[in-house]
Amino acid sequence: MAIKKILTYPDPVLRQKVETVTCFDDSLKQLAHDLAETMYAAPGAGLAANQIGVCLRVVVIDISASEDEKKPLVLVNPEIVEQEGCQVDEEGCLSVIDFTAKVERYTRLLVRAKDLDGKTWEFPAEDFFARVIQHELDHLHGILFIDHLSPLKRTLYKRRLKKLLREQEEGSS
Ligand code: NI
Repeated sequence: MAIKKILTYPDPVLRQKVETVTCFDDSLKQLAHDLAETMYAAPGAGLAANQIGVCLRVVVIDISASEDEKKPLVLVNPEIVEQEGCQVDEEGCLSVIDFTAKVERYTRLLVRAKDLDGKTWEFPAEDFFARVIQHELDHLHGILFIDHLSPLKRTLYKRRLKKLLREQEEGSS
């Protein structure tokens, strides 16, 4: 297992197309382990494979925030099959530095995914759990939560990020 580097906006890899998993082998299990370890180290409630530069439809989620028993949920080729309701809440992302904003999401979902052995299963999700799933599935489509904001808010963030990155660069040179 290894903690991987999390790519951050505006890294173009975060926008690339990701592939459906067809091979349920040891390297997939290794990827799931790395994703989980990287997520817990961050720490975050979810992480998509393309955030660590692996363009496959895999995400890990853990909303328990428990210190002792870590049970990451691994979703392979996940998709939302039903959705309803509307919730608005503050969201952040490990790939979006130093920023949170209110984002509108569905309240309830029915999700279909495969496990690490390639078995398909379906489960309901609601509230924060549903929010995290929508956020992570967005990643697999190259979408970041800032894409859901108004153009003005997004522009203001981009400007702030540019300044931040410039300051970091100046600080390190
Ligand atoms: Ni994210």
